[in-house]
Amino acid sequence: MIGIIGAMESEVNGLKASVENAEIRKIASVEFCSGTLNGKEVVIAEAGVGKVNAAVTAQIMILEYGAEAVINAGVAGGLNATLKVGDIVVADKVAEHDMDTTPFGDPPGFITGLERVYMECDEGITQILKKTAEELGVHTIVGTIVSGDQFICRKEQREKLIGEFNADAAEMEGAAIGHVCAMNGVRFGVIRAMSDCANDDSIVDFPTFELKAASRSVEIIKRAVSKMDH
Ligand code: ADE
Repeated sequence: MIGIIGAMESEVNGLKASVENAEIRKIASVEFCSGTLNGKEVVIAEAGVGKVNAAVTAQIMILEYGAEAVINAGVAGGLNATLKVGDIVVADKVAEHDMDTTPFGDPPGFITGLERVYMECDEGITQILKKTAEELGVHTIVGTIVSGDQFICRKEQREKLIGEFNADAAEMEGAAIGHVCAMNGVRFGVIRAMSDCANDDSIVDFPTFELKAASRSVEIIKRAVSKMDH
């Protein structure tokens, strides 16, 4: 069983519409749609925006649906200077940029308990997502995605994420899902299409390009799941 989590309607509706023998359940206010997508058993959910919603949804997928892998898909703000709207970042690792116990001498993003800053994505999932995106002819990079409960558009936020994490893209869920998967020993991957470049233009670019970017991520997930062996 593969779990697929998006935060917003635009990030999951195109996937849910393609599920065969769909079964819907509502748990903790989140709707879970399970069934078959391109021949694979999946459970898909629109978690809502932010780290807590993403974490609750990932944990439910693991406990209630026995998800053996969780993929987080959707849109993000590009931080890497080579990225334009519509480009793809596949994470090889994720971090929670708003986790801060630096007053105790920890590095930015350090997660006490897991005792690390970065959660490593599953290499097999990452390679399948990268290859599938490239097959569509989209500029794709593999790199670091950081998550926090903040929309990133101000210069000082942007510079902090690049300076402290060398981050390629910013969003609000991926690292929370990585955190839950690490706690449960479950594989995970994150793919994001750029809706904006996490700068002064983002407040206009995000609503303008969200749908286009989200449908690109949906298209890649649809093709990629058929190549996964879960
Ligand atoms: N998702 C899409 N764009 C984003 C941004 N600029 N900051 C955080 N999450 C995002």
